Amino acid sequence: MKTLDILKQSHLSLHLSPITIRELIGLGHCPADIFIFENEQYILSIKKGAYLDTKILREHIQKGHSSVFVRESGRDSIISAQQENLRVITRSFSMGDSKDNAIKQLNLLTINLRYLFEDPTNDETLNLQHQSLKILFNYLFKNSKHHEEIFHHYIKQGHHYIFAQPVLSSIFLIGILKTAHVYSQKDIENLFIASYFKDIGMCAIPLEKYDQDELSIKDKQILSKHSETSVRILKGRLPLTPNYFEVIKYHHSFSLLKRDLGTELSFNDNMRIIGFETVMVNICDIIAAMISPRPYREAESLYDSLKLVREIISPEYPNEFKLIVNYFRNFFTVAI
Ligand SMILES: [Fe+2]
Repeated sequence: MKTLDILKQSHLSLHLSPITIRELIGLGHCPADIFIFENEQYILSIKKGAYLDTKILREHIQKGHSSVFVRESGRDSIISAQQENLRVITRSFSMGDSKDNAIKQLNLLTINLRYLFEDPTNDETLNLQHQSLKILFNYLFKNSKHHEEIFHHYIKQGHHYIFAQPVLSSIFLIGILKTAHVYSQKDIENLFIASYFKDIGMCAIPLEKYDQDELSIKDKQILSKHSETSVRILKGRLPLTPNYFEVIKYHHSFSLLKRDLGTELSFNDNMRIIGFETVMVNICDIIAAMISPRPYREAESLYDSLKLVREIISPEYPNEFKLIVNYFRNFFTVAI
């Protein structure tokens, strides 16, 4: 490499930050110069203003460039463009095919959830998520029959599990609470929103650490307090009554997380008077996590996840366990 190139490269490396190529999906034209890192150097791969189609993005992924690089100012342009995309689909949800809109909106919500993780005190980002979630909820509540199809479309997008997990668990939650026939639509909407935002406190650890096999003791301690951190981040900023913040606070009462953190999973130790809805938020979270792969483990079967749920809740909540089994039996027409 010539001296000038070396200088250019070191200048670039100081000003580039990594983004996932998924952030460019649906943008039409590229809002910033996109670089790839190949043969020990940064190479301009997509020029600002270039037409973006799925073929270009797929080619990048196939060549191992799921992670690409962008200048800071370029990142801001991408964020603005994706926020605008989410605003547009939220405003025009009733136009066109609602199921297609729901699929698009879920993807955009997930892309935008990353921006909230990066900047959790940003009210604009939080409000956009909240407004968008309410519109989506209204559709999901009335269209349970489309949940499975939406689920499979969503899985195919391959979002990072930290952002996909709240979506998947919250979709399950709507279905289960509906079949329980004891909650109003408004109650279920609030629980859906609480469930979606319950893990926002996980932003206290950098995203890349979630891909590691093992977290450090300090990170485990931070992670074990993420539900309380979520409440601190959200309280006073989301129009939820204190009960829903309690649901967020106790959403790991029978948690897998404790198992992941290497401590004993004990129903009795963790038993609280937390109410059926908190139990369901927790259980939907456990099932969504178990049936999805992680960078450090394979996905487990629905059967195995239900077996664990039975161990955890069946002695105290036998009827609720039956409800969960029936729900999932009807949810997946294709065995997973
Ligand atoms: Fe959590």
